[in-house]
Amino acid sequence: MLAIGSDHGGFALKEEIKQFLDSEGIAYKDCGTYDEQSVDYPDIAQTVCAEVLSGNCEKAVLVCGTGIGIGIAANKINGIRAALCCDTFSAKMAAAHNNANVITLGGRVTGPELAKEIVSAFLSSEFLGGRHVIRVDKIMALEKQN
Ligand code: RB5
Repeated sequence: MLAIGSDHGGFALKEEIKQFLDSEGIAYKDCGTYDEQSVDYPDIAQTVCAEVLSGNCEKAVLVCGTGIGIGIAANKINGIRAALCCDTFSAKMAAAHNNANVITLGGRVTGPELAKEIVSAFLSSEFLGGRHVIRVDKIMALEKQN
């Protein structure tokens, strides 16, 4: 299961991504927002990331206007590795090298067709393990220093 969420700046792109997920038969949980009314992206990041941390969802996609704010918020949450992705190579590497459990997209930055390819690349890529394990472990150890 994929968790997906956006603020108002990412709402339109989230809806486009949902259509893509539907067409691919990919199950998802839409954690809001559900219209274009202004909301605060940290609240959406918290709700979506809780789905990942609880194990309800394996991965998540977060969208705000730029993908930046919602990604900063997500990365403050212990256990979350969120990667802002504007291209498919980064989305693949975010999974393969960084074991990212969340990607973020900018609804005012990335067009819908590219966004769908980015989501697809992220979902179809696996963490490679090996030499990347120690690096990801070191990232996660940084959480305990604060
Ligand atoms: C909302 O206007 C906008 O600030 C938000 O969607 C995002 O781009 C923040 O990083």
